Order: sequence, then C-alpha cells, then structure tokens
Amino acid sequence: MPNANAEVEAHKQAAAERALELVRPGTIVGLGTGSTARYFIDGLIQRVQAGLSVRAVVTSLETRRQAEAGGIEVVEQLDGSLDLAVDGADEIDPAINCLKGRGGALLREKIVATASRRFVLVADESKLVGRLGRGPVPIEVLPFLWQATSHAIESLGGRPELRIVAGRPFRTDNQNLILDTNFGTVDLALGLALHAIPGVLEHGLFFGIARAAIVAGASGTRILGELG
Ligand code: 5RP
Repeated sequence: MPNANAEVEAHKQAAAERALELVRPGTIVGLGTGSTARYFIDGLIQRVQAGLSVRAVVTSLETRRQAEAGGIEVVEQLDGSLDLAVDGADEIDPAINCLKGRGGALLREKIVATASRRFVLVADESKLVGRLGRGPVPIEVLPFLWQATSHAIESLGGRPELRIVAGRPFRTDNQNLILDTNFGTVDLALGLALHAIPGVLEHGLFFGIARAAIVAGASGTRILGELG
C-alpha cells in the first residue's frame, strides 16, 4: 500500500510547482508559511539560484529564515501592491474562501494576502471542504487581559481554547496569543463581529481574498478560480 503521507507531500509539492509558473521576473512575491508554502519557497530558491530576479515579503520568521538561507532578498517596505502572494490553507471552500492560521502566522499572512493583486492558495485536496468551519478558527489576540477578549468571543457563540505548545502558551511572531475557537458555523458576518472586539488582532477567516487555489490530488492538479 502506498505511503499516505508521502502521497500528500507529493500533492503539496505538485501544487507549489504549478504556482511557480506564476512568478514574474523583477517582481516582489509574497511568501506564505507552512509545509505547502515551504515547497513553493524551495522551488523559488532554485529559480533564484539559476538567475531569476525576484524579491520577497515574508509572512513569518520561519519563512524569512528559509528564503534568506536560499539567497532570496527579503524586503520590509512595500510601495504599492504585490504582484503575487502564494500561501497554504487549512480549509478551502468552493468559493475559494479559506481558513488559515494553524501555523500561527495568520496576521502577517492576511496583511500580505490583501496587499497582493493575486493571492493564490496551494494545497493538497484534503483541504477542500464544502463549508468552512470543520476545524477551529485561529484568532490572534493581544496578551493584555486576554481572558476578557476570550469572554467576548464566547458571547459570539465560540468556544475559545488558548493554544498551548510544549506546555506553554504559544506566542506568535508578533508575541501575541492564539485562541483556537470552535463556532458551529462560520461566515463573513462572524469575521466582521470578531474584528469589532477590542483585543482581537486578526482571525483566520479569509473571505473573498484569494483569487485562485491550486489543488493537487490523486487525479492530478486543478485550478479553482482565475490565476491570471
Ligand atoms: C500558517 C497557515 C498555513 O498556511 C496553513 O496552516 C497550511 O499549512 P500546511 O501547508 O502546512 O498544511 O495558515 O499560519
């Protein structure tokens, strides 16, 4: 029987390789975070080492390390918008809305995604869902009085759980906390209501931001939306 993990990794890599075809020389590319984004960055490093001229903005310290170690110049300032940003997702619905943030980079990921003319998701087919909300919504909150913020999230019908890693509260690259929150159903209105809570810095619901998703599976690679 084929190794299921190896197959999933091959699918992630296939999606990332298709996304590499979208990179235009001389542009600034937004680099996502996570295992699928890592394949895209690996491929971009190979192209840069072969002479492609691109610079990048990064969505996490982990991505910065990978990009810089491979020779990609990382910029911190952006004058105008990005041509392209490529990132993974935890869930993708048929309208290319997505849920992100299992890696804890959602705040920077959303800034980069919304600053891009083309925000393209790369994923293996296990990420496709009929409706977002299969898993919890990661919510980045300020540590200051985070329990009060958590109560406000509960009043919206959520069940927030402080993300713990290695026995300690997980800290994002911005030194904030994550509340992984189950809601029965999620929608655009919920996303707006979360933004109205003081102490909520960002949430992992990306409605209407991605232009396309490249999804790879056992039957090949398909495109949802428009890549151009
Ligand atoms: C990190 C993210 C990731 O893009 C998302 O969790 C998908 O990761 P992977 O490609 O490893 O499944 O949102 O904050």
